[in-house]
Amino acid sequence: MNQDDLKRSAAAAALDYVASIVERDTIVGIGTGSTTNHFIDALARIRHRFDAAVSSSEASAARLKAHGIQVLDLNAVARVRVYVDGADEINPARQMIKGGGGALTREKIVAASADEFACIVDAGKIVERLGAFPLPVEVIPMARGLAARALRDLGGQPELRPDFITDNGNIILDVHGLDLGDPLAMEQRINNIVGVVCNGIFAAQAAHRVFSAGPQGVRAW
Ligand code: 5RP
Repeated sequence: MNQDDLKRSAAAAALDYVASIVERDTIVGIGTGSTTNHFIDALARIRHRFDAAVSSSEASAARLKAHGIQVLDLNAVARVRVYVDGADEINPARQMIKGGGGALTREKIVAASADEFACIVDAGKIVERLGAFPLPVEVIPMARGLAARALRDLGGQPELRPDFITDNGNIILDVHGLDLGDPLAMEQRINNIVGVVCNGIFAAQAAHRVFSAGPQGVRAW
């Protein structure tokens, strides 16, 4: 099995779970990325069993609509039953680094709106300690220099993601070398930098359950 097969397996396990909890009026929250794309494709099979989706990106919204799944504005829904998304790294406490695809801000918003966050990963994303993956930070363009200096003060080496603008019209700084021994504290510290919109540490917003796929099968934890 290659990595893409594992992503598909994790997505299939999440689909089984979601199928077991949705009702006709259920809204499902949808993340962004290649693992989530497998989930969207699987979700299409049960599209008549739930009401609609809310999406964390324009790309996922387009894929959902192409499958005939209704996509609603988050502000138009009262409750998101479950949010399903991938991650770039996840630790045993289910804290994550996300934003490799640059959709971290909307991902955190939809995750925060949902009753439950189900994370789907291939087992290669599981780490003991977060931080080998460079941390994506979404920044207002005019604050690029200011935010980069503040991130350096925190011990990181920020790099502007080339040729990339987020769905919100902002830039991404990918920050190498940060000490993420205390993910929650670092998430809050970076949130306090003026000009930062959002950072890719999901510690305050950890997953509630994980479907991780390895060569031996899928583990739910
Ligand atoms: C996008 C994300 C993705 O969930 C993360 O990058 C994982 O992507 P993939 O499923 O393609 O490995 O946070 O902003």
